Amino acid sequence: MIDSALVPDFWTSVAIFVVLYLVKWRLDPLYHIPTVGGTSLPLLSYIGARKFVHRGKDIIREGYQKHYGKAFKVPMLDKWMVFVSGPEVLDDIRRRPDEEVSFAESVEDDMQLRHIIDRDAVENPYHVDMIREKLTRSLPVVLPHVIDELQLAVPEHIPAVSGEWTEVNVLDAFRQIIARASSRVFVGQPLCRNEEYLALSIRFAIDIMKDRDTLSWFPQFLKPYVSLGYSLARRSLSRNKEILQPAIDERAAMMERWGDDWTDKPNDMLQWFMEAQQTDDQYKTIADRIMITNFAAIHTSSQSGSLSLLWLADHPEYIDPIRKEIEEVLAEQGWTKAAMSKMWKLDSLLKEYQRHQGLSLASLSRKMMKDITLRDGTVLPRGTTIVATTYDIHHNGAKYENPDVFDPFRFSRVRADSEEERVKNQFVNTSVDYMPFGHGKHACPGRFFAANELKALLAYIILNYDFKMGDDGHAGPPSYNGLLTIPAVNATVQFRKRESKV
Ligand code: HEM
Ligand SMILES: *[C@@H]1O[C@H](CO)[C@@H](O)[C@H](O)[C@H]1NC(C)=O
Ligand SMILES: *[C@@H]1O[C@H](CO)[C@@H](O)[C@H](O)[C@H]1NC(C)=O
Repeated sequence: MIDSALVPDFWTSVAIFVVLYLVKWRLDPLYHIPTVGGTSLPLLSYIGARKFVHRGKDIIREGYQKHYGKAFKVPMLDKWMVFVSGPEVLDDIRRRPDEEVSFAESVEDDMQLRHIIDRDAVENPYHVDMIREKLTRSLPVVLPHVIDELQLAVPEHIPAVSGEWTEVNVLDAFRQIIARASSRVFVGQPLCRNEEYLALSIRFAIDIMKDRDTLSWFPQFLKPYVSLGYSLARRSLSRNKEILQPAIDERAAMMERWGDDWTDKPNDMLQWFMEAQQTDDQYKTIADRIMITNFAAIHTSSQSGSLSLLWLADHPEYIDPIRKEIEEVLAEQGWTKAAMSKMWKLDSLLKEYQRHQGLSLASLSRKMMKDITLRDGTVLPRGTTIVATTYDIHHNGAKYENPDVFDPFRFSRVRADSEEERVKNQFVNTSVDYMPFGHGKHACPGRFFAANELKALLAYIILNYDFKMGDDGHAGPPSYNGLLTIPAVNATVQFRKRESKV
């Protein structure tokens, strides 16, 4: 028999529970950082987290205005997200080494990749170095191949003729075209035209997002099992491996036989990854690394490019000046990397889209690997995730004149002023005021490739097609899912074939 005197009655239990809750709340190591978008009381913060899914933009703006230059926190379902702004704090963060603040760990957490991606790809990210260095340096050589592939893929996905208008879903068309043109450089021919491979390369990012939603319903200790059983991304990765393995085996055999060089040795990322792998037993994670690259490259580029084109279709008065600049540059330089770097107006349009809207409300995400004290005195305990309030930084009136106006030539206008302005205002430049590609050590290593590919694609379309807003084009402002911009997925543009002289 239990002695009934030892069993607390109902109200005593409630009281103990409330006290423990308050103690936990007061002891929360992030207690000293102000909360926005809810309260920091445990149960109520759950409601705040729900609100953030659709109202994140307003919540971040409120925090940015109240706490500019410092940190504030917003409740997420399973943790706090700390937002930071202001040049001193951002500079402080971007300078810190990976042992203190980790980009890879924050992505792994956020995307719930721990049970999907091999740890070796996180701990030994040689593919990132290859993208940053080898791919960027090889641009003059690989860009003509990208352009060659674009010329085949664009007419397939924008099947317009002269004399009549054809309506095309632009985001969808851009995904297909970009997957294929990028794959020409990532995995080479003939894989870049393998329909199943291309479909996988596009689907993988969607798989990750769906997995992330599924996993978010389960507690930490169940996640590995749920992931084993249900993960769509795991399934895609293993199918991807099967598709790539014959090419990997064939190349491995050639490397075995001929060493570093042989006739027709492929000059693509798959080859560079194979040559870079040192600890990667039997090229075990090569196929996964290709898929991680697709994940980082395809949806980002196609969303940026298609929405820039959509804006242009909606503001046709800007088409002629851009087209004229493209024609002049190409007449002089041909379809080369040198030509792409002279397309200042197109470069500015792409840069302005990412400033004015962009793909995410935040960037520069980092996980604290130890207790960190920021330069402004804010203490961030180990395990905290922070991000920068990128959208609001991009709409800061002190840095950008009329920040809410989409001004397509905002950046090209000033580039002739000085060498510094020329460099600073190009699409690929990052700074504490311009972070769609992040900033610092982990700034997007693929941005040089992305900028060239997108300019080549848009230049090709602008020269070879007339275009105008489609019937479903005016979809209104974008919606959000947490930090992510959700574009109007069905937006259309009408195209008509045009004769180009270059
Ligand atoms: C318009 C297109 C793109 C946008 C907007 C974009 C944006 C970003 C952002 C915001 C980051 C995180 C940086 C940070 O937080 O400091 C990033 C990282 C990364 N991006 Fe991109 N990206 C684009 C295209 C590409 C392409 C084409 C590739 C591959 C060729 C690529 C590969 C990567 C990789 C591998 C990382 C991780 C870097 C690291 O671990 O240090 N991205 N990108
Ligand atoms: C961006 O431009 C500024 C000004 O010219 C320059 O100091 C900086 O190094 C550039 N940053 C990058 C990442 O290219
Ligand atoms: C987009 O179009 C598809 C097919 O026509 C439709 O099922 C879907 O609801 C549309 N989505 C939006 C957001 O309008």
